[in-house]
Amino acid sequence: MSKQTKLSLDISLLKEYVVDSDLTAMQPHIDSVRSALLNRTCAGADFLGWLDLPWSVESELPNIKKIAAEIRDNADHLVSIGIGGSYLGARAAIDFLADPFLCNDRVLYLGHHIGSDYTASLLDFVMQKNVYVNVISKSGTATEPALAFRLLLQELSRKYSRDELRRRVIATTDDDEGVLRNMVKTEGYRSFVIADDIGGRFSVLSPVGLLPIAAAGYDIDALLAGARDMAHWCKSESDVLANDALKYAAARHTLYNKGKDVEIFSSFEPSAHYIAEWWKQLFGESEGKEEKGIFPTSASLTTDLHSLGQFMQEGTRTLFETFFTVGKTKTEVVIPAVDGDADDLNFLRDKTVEHVNRQAYIATKFAHYEGDLPNMTIEIPSRDEYSLGQLFYFFEFAVAISGLLLDVNPFNQPGVEAYKQNMFAILDKPGYEDKKETLLKLIKGE
Ligand code: PA5
Repeated sequence: MSKQTKLSLDISLLKEYVVDSDLTAMQPHIDSVRSALLNRTCAGADFLGWLDLPWSVESELPNIKKIAAEIRDNADHLVSIGIGGSYLGARAAIDFLADPFLCNDRVLYLGHHIGSDYTASLLDFVMQKNVYVNVISKSGTATEPALAFRLLLQELSRKYSRDELRRRVIATTDDDEGVLRNMVKTEGYRSFVIADDIGGRFSVLSPVGLLPIAAAGYDIDALLAGARDMAHWCKSESDVLANDALKYAAARHTLYNKGKDVEIFSSFEPSAHYIAEWWKQLFGESEGKEEKGIFPTSASLTTDLHSLGQFMQEGTRTLFETFFTVGKTKTEVVIPAVDGDADDLNFLRDKTVEHVNRQAYIATKFAHYEGDLPNMTIEIPSRDEYSLGQLFYFFEFAVAISGLLLDVNPFNQPGVEAYKQNMFAILDKPGYEDKKETLLKLIKGE
């Protein structure tokens, strides 16, 4: 992999908090968790299928590409139903790669919340359109996507025959278990399998992410090529100073131990909004347990410099910041000179918008550094599939190391169940009667 095409990490503005000697002091700890991860002896070792996914998914690619081409040829829209890890990776990739105004709505999303007006509006909209459906749920039982699928099937059955609907639904779920797999068996939907050893938030490079991304018209071969290059590099280099994924994990751990327990993912690229959302789930669900972990949040810059900027510069000093930048934009917008200079902007004449945005990033990172907001930068070479594949794998590998450094299991999410149990109880789901009694007492303040 040549230098210009590789993701890079710059930690120079962490100084005072993290210097190379802090990282080298962590090398034995890093060696131990890295070996446990690669030898599959770490906590959560049953969920390490993502480590080899850029290669192991290859046998699925012909079928993914065939169905994606069928969707592109025959449908106005693919409705992708899923939540959390069954939704965010595809949305992150599609939003990042798409032109923000042209054809950014080939994939529509449902089942990632229970918003009534959104649901009603989407159900109305699809009745005027030619649609396919990809329902994605590993468990097959998450309430939000299951409810969305029921409503969408009901609506679409008013315009498609049962056979036609069968042809238009593709399910991505467990090989054998769950309500969705049972529906696949009874209805004969085409389906893809989410392997047992791949958790939702690590599944973007499986059919979970690849089918919607390919259906939206993006190059999944290039995405996987980037992931494979990054996987090779992450796995083969053990030196914490030479392996950026290890360095990122070790730097975060050092900051955490110095009281910095909120990480802001800041991007100057509006197309990266859902990359931040995907990153928040990956890090939040992997690390936030046993009363430990760094709280992941995000900012869209420069927009949020006019809202959160004050707090970031001068508020509580428990924050650190990870900038995400893209080396090369796809387009160039040159700023014109204007006679009379009424808006006082002629000092920017002949410069590009990309250049101004870059200077805003440089100005911000030094302002934040001077305001005691330590920051680092992860940069990918360009806004394309190959760079994005690197980024996905980089963060997956880094969060595994980071969670293991914290001594938690990075691959489970037991805390996600709490709200579900309460919701089932107050919605009278059979089996939750005792829970309902306790909860009602709490609601009444008894
Ligand atoms: O990372 C995870 O495991 C979760 O975010 C799940 O992806 C999410 O809860 C959706 O679950 P499911 O795919 O079972 O519908």
